[in-house]
Amino acid sequence: MIGMGTENLQAPEGSPSSVPPRGPAPLERFLAAARGRNRGRPPVWLMRQAGRYLPEYRAIRGRRSFKEMCQDPDLAVEVSLLPHRLLGVDAVIVFYDILIPLEGMGMPLQYTDEGPVFTDPVRDEGALCRLRPLEPEHHTASILTAIRRLKEELGAEKPVLGFAGGPFTLASYLVEGRPGMGVEAVKRILFQAPAFLHRLLERLAEMTAAYLKAQVRAGADAVQLFDTWAGQLGKEEYREFVLPYQRWIFRELGDLNGAIDRQALLSRDGDGYFRDSASAALCSGDPRDGDKRHAPAILFVKDGNHVLEEMAGSGAQVLSLDWRSSLDGARERLGAGIALQGNLDPAALFAPVEAVRRRVGEMLAGRQGDPAYIFNLGHGLLPETPVDSVQAVVETVKSFGS
Ligand code: CP3
Repeated sequence: MIGMGTENLQAPEGSPSSVPPRGPAPLERFLAAARGRNRGRPPVWLMRQAGRYLPEYRAIRGRRSFKEMCQDPDLAVEVSLLPHRLLGVDAVIVFYDILIPLEGMGMPLQYTDEGPVFTDPVRDEGALCRLRPLEPEHHTASILTAIRRLKEELGAEKPVLGFAGGPFTLASYLVEGRPGMGVEAVKRILFQAPAFLHRLLERLAEMTAAYLKAQVRAGADAVQLFDTWAGQLGKEEYREFVLPYQRWIFRELGDLNGAIDRQALLSRDGDGYFRDSASAALCSGDPRDGDKRHAPAILFVKDGNHVLEEMAGSGAQVLSLDWRSSLDGARERLGAGIALQGNLDPAALFAPVEAVRRRVGEMLAGRQGDPAYIFNLGHGLLPETPVDSVQAVVETVKSFGS
């Protein structure tokens, strides 16, 4: 592994107002880390960084529904930029939700106080037939407009991140319909009617590939696939019901205009999974050439420690880990050929601010010299998180070297 050079490192010290050490622009830093070539401090952004812990978010949300906020590009841009303006994070994730494209496929969706609800869950062949293909420019025009405007606003300085839900995670919401049940319903179908689930996952993978490609064409510098619930499967089921679809999506993203051989990707021969080996993952594209065909892909799976090797074989350039995985352990298991993102427990931000700083400092010390690391949480920021702690996280990372 290439070292960072200790002259670039400094301990996380100094007051919040101290001038941060200079370094590359955030876009360059982010793409370098995603490609394993970062020589300075890691970039930092936080899942759910534009959310309810911010009073500014709650003020807007008090006047508008969540869905309205997602579907109005003016509001979505304003909310996406809050953590950029207030916290100085190194990347801006566009404000939207993983479930909204499913409405474009013909599935009515409501956000209730208990969580998202699909009033017409997909449980049989009839429902499957009613799913329409997504036309991203038509059905999800607002997120694409928001990405274009964010890119205009942030220019070549700061990365804009797009995202989508992973097919298994989307399927678990579609099959369940109502909040609270987790993955029980989709797991029952997985064992009762595997062919049906495969047909649903295929539709969702096709949609997601088209959707993420549209986001990259609109200007997203990188994209994250949230396959949150896939970690609830055992290794064998992950290999059969998750990995082929993730590989399909990442393969399509790597070749925006090309046609991929879906049959080959879906054929479940053991070795095929790892053809996109972890070391190949970091080699695609040059961060300086602005080549949109190679926007790096980040894969997030919650509770995925038992499937890290499979995740690394998906073709994603960056793996986003939750706090149950050890970053050192993941590095040891996967080698230097793949970037890692994570993995502070969001609940740790409820500790006193000084303890938060110390903990983040320890995490950074553990990754010192790792050119393929992006600082993040292990899951989304919790609604009640004190803003001071979030600020302390960002400042501590930014004070850790140039
Ligand atoms: O990270 C960001 O700031 C970007 C925006 C973003 C949201 N949701 C906004 C949101 C992203 C990337 C997501 C991803 C998402 N959405 C996931 C994957 C990550 C994860 O948390 O596991 C999932 C499973 C969803 C589905 C979803 N959306 C649920 C289950 C809920 C309700 C529970 C909750 O956390 O509120 C949402 C609503 C949602 N999505 C909110 C926000 C800011 C809260 C809406 C509100 O203001 O009431």
